[in-house]
Amino acid sequence: AAAVRYEAESALISQGTVASNHPGFTGSGFVDYDNTPGGFVEFTVTAAGPGDASLGLRFANGTAADRPLDITVNGAAVAAGLPFGPTGGWSSWQTRTLTAALEQGANTVRVSAPGALGGPNLDSLTV
Ligand code: GCU
Repeated sequence: AAAVRYEAESALISQGTVASNHPGFTGSGFVDYDNTPGGFVEFTVTAAGPGDASLGLRFANGTAADRPLDITVNGAAVAAGLPFGPTGGWSSWQTRTLTAALEQGANTVRVSAPGALGGPNLDSLTV
């Protein structure tokens, strides 16, 4: 099936704000995680059938340090401390892809920032 892009600014956001002060995002903006541990962006994504899917997270990290993220699907951990390293500037966006099993129908994909400085800026999730 064709990939569907889910915008972070339209997702459920905890300890983060929608921003648009760095260009290159899709949609109307991106999520700027608060610079504190525990923030998350939770997407509700729809799968046509059960099975492995490719999850593409588009992000920017204008610092020199990793901003790791934890990924859960329907409450179960699929990745912990996944690295989201420097992209060369806050307006330089990259996509990191991982594979996760989805259920048929609605799934919650939560992207949490365990680090002291929160996550990178997050633009979207493409499934
Ligand atoms: C800067 C930048 C933000 C970013 C933040 C951070 O303030 O403008 O977009 O989110 O740094 O370090 O998280």
